[in-house]
Order: sequence, then C-alpha cells, then structure tokens
Amino acid sequence: MTVLALETSCDETSAAVVCDGRVLSSAVSSQIKLHAEYGGVVPELAAREHLRNLISVVQTALDEAGVQPGQLDAVAATQGPGLPMALLVGLKAAQAVAFALRKPFIGINHHEAHLYSPWISKKSTPLAPSLSPPGGERVIEDRERGGNAEGVFFADFAAFQPNVSLIVSGGHTMLVKVESELKHRVLGSTVDDAAGECFDKTGKLMGLPYPAGPEIDRLAEQGNPKAYDFPRPLLHDASDDFSFSGLKTSVRYFLRDHPGILDDGQKLRDMCASIQVAIVEVLVKKTIRAAKRNHVRCVTASGGVTCNRALRRDLARACEREGFELRLAEKSLCTDNAAMVGVLAEFKLQNGAAGDSLDAEIQPGWVLADGNTIS
Ligand code: KG4
Ligand code: ZN
Repeated sequence: MTVLALETSCDETSAAVVCDGRVLSSAVSSQIKLHAEYGGVVPELAAREHLRNLISVVQTALDEAGVQPGQLDAVAATQGPGLPMALLVGLKAAQAVAFALRKPFIGINHHEAHLYSPWISKKSTPLAPSLSPPGGERVIEDRERGGNAEGVFFADFAAFQPNVSLIVSGGHTMLVKVESELKHRVLGSTVDDAAGECFDKTGKLMGLPYPAGPEIDRLAEQGNPKAYDFPRPLLHDASDDFSFSGLKTSVRYFLRDHPGILDDGQKLRDMCASIQVAIVEVLVKKTIRAAKRNHVRCVTASGGVTCNRALRRDLARACEREGFELRLAEKSLCTDNAAMVGVLAEFKLQNGAAGDSLDAEIQPGWVLADGNTIS
C-alpha cells in the first residue's frame, strides 16, 4: 500500500510517502525562522506559510519517493490537535487529493502519530534489491529513496511490545500506556505548560531565540546543573500528571532577584543546565515510575523535546539501571513530520480502519482517546 501523508498542525509543513511500512520520502519545510522574529508561533502566519509551501513540499516527497500521484492507494493528514487554520490547510489538501484520485482519506491524531514514532527505525542494511510500486510502471531502487545515505526508515511494528510512552513536545507532555498496537490509555498529562513550552518560555526570559529548547540544550552542555536549584514540580505527586508553569515562574523571580546574571556567559550556561536538569529529572523519574507501576518492560519517548541530549542520556541510564528496554524516536522524527503520520495511517488501514469522510472537519482540540483506535 502506498500512502501520501501531510502534516501541518503547527509550524512544520511536511509531506511523506510510505509504502509497506517503509518511509520512501519525508520532506519537511520548517517555519522556525519566520516565527523566531515574533518569539513564538503566530497562527495566521503559520497557515499562510503552509499554503505557500505545501504543493512544493508534496512534490518533493513524491519526487524523492519516485511515486506518481496515480500510484497512491490512500491519502492521510493530521486532523488534530493543532492550530485550526494550520490544520485546515493540510487536511483539506489531503481530502482534495483523495477526491481527485478516488482513493480513501484518513485523518490522524497528531499525538497518536508521535506515540508510534519510536517504532519507526533506521535500517542500515540494504533492503530488498527493488520494490515495484503499485501500478508497476517503475522500479524504485533503494539508492533513489530519500535519506538513503543514512539508511531507510521503516516501521518496526514486528518488534512492538507493551510500553509506557512519554510524549513530550512544545504543546504537550503526557504519559501513555500502550497495551498493544493501536490500543492505549493516557495515564497523565500536563496540567498547565508543556515541557517544551517551559524550555521555550524560560529561554525567552533569558533572552534566547525561539525555540529556546535546542539553544538551552547546547548551552547546558557547558553548564553546571547543580549551580542553581529550581523546583521539580509534581515530582513526588502520586499522579502521572505534569506541571511546568511553577518552574517558569521561579526562573522569572530568580532573574528579577539576580539582575545582571545573564551578562556572565558561564552563569547563563549554568542557568540553562540547572533549568534543563529540573525538567529532565521530572520527566525521567515520572516515566520510570509509571513504567514500574504498569508492569511493562519497555519505555518509549517521542516529540520535539526528545531531541534533548540530557533527556536521551538520562532516560537511557535510568532504563538501563531499572531493566527497561528503551526506544527513543529517531531525532529527525522527534519534531513534527509527516512520516509518522503516514506510518500510522498505513498501519491503521492495513488493520481494518475505515477511511474518513472527505468532508471530515479538523479537530483542533482532539484529545487522545483511551482504547483501541480502530474499533
Ligand atoms: O514536537 P514538536 O516539533 O512540536 C510540537 O508538537 O509541539 O516540538 C517542538 C518543541 C519546542 O518546544 C522545542 O523547544 C522543543 O520541542 N525542542 C527541544 C529540543 N529540540 C526541540 N527542547 C529541548 N531540547 C532540544 N534539543
Ligand atoms: Zn508534535
């Protein structure tokens, strides 16, 4: 089955072609530079940029995959949650393509796509010598596929095992128990700011450019994480919920009470390391605790903040210590991308999911539901 997937829920315009679990191409056009000027994502600008870039991003994805529109078997798009006008661009475009091709359309929950992204892995060994695309007009050699120099991504659902999954991004922080493929239960989520938002907002307070997460990650590498003691919100709370707005407020007051601290480069790096360690400690400890309580043997993590080196390192150490297998989403699949949308869409369709209506609406506030998502 060959699926074209679109992702436009926030500030990345992305298109991917997935065929039989293989990511043939994944094109992403990031709007980060545009929004950086405003210190955060401006919804109207995001939608306008999606409109401006979508066709060329889709063309790139099709070209890199070596797939013609007529060879597609289905079209998928992120239906929610996300920015309404941004979602609208990708969803309506996908429905229009499905209508024109007379092929099924399927709307995907962005968080559910993140949830399964750790099962998309890189295969460095050569694939089968050739793959005949549906329609058979052309054989796609491995070397023609996007990203082939570093290996091809493929959905490794055969390796699936029940897990506790941390989804940690700019908009959301949640822990989910994934009992089996497509069957999951949300254990807890943030009651206020998301972890990525905490990175971005505390970074903004320190004068760092948007998004500040990667910048804090970089500066923290040369900082002392014990220099300053910031709160670890809800660390000892019995629930699996998170809260990060108190940490942000405490950074605000700390900066007010220590004027001039940011003029010293080393103190800035120490601040970054101290903020980062507070966020990471909460994420790691609560994830491990949830995994123990839910009697799973595997932990997974995905979403933009999973790019963070300290989080990857500390989660790996904790999992090794506690005997959990850890699957982290590949870095290029942590931030928003259509590859994860396409992989999930194909998996659902192959497992009996019916397509969605061509006039299905966007769901900007779509909450990840409990249960089996195709029954
Ligand atoms: O998943 P994503 O691309 O978009 C949402 O769905 O929100 O995540 C973006 C978030 C931003 O808050 C960004 O600062 C954060 O991920 N992020 C990082 C790092 N790279 C991206 N946070 C900490 N360290 C990083 N290396
Ligand atoms: Zn996301």
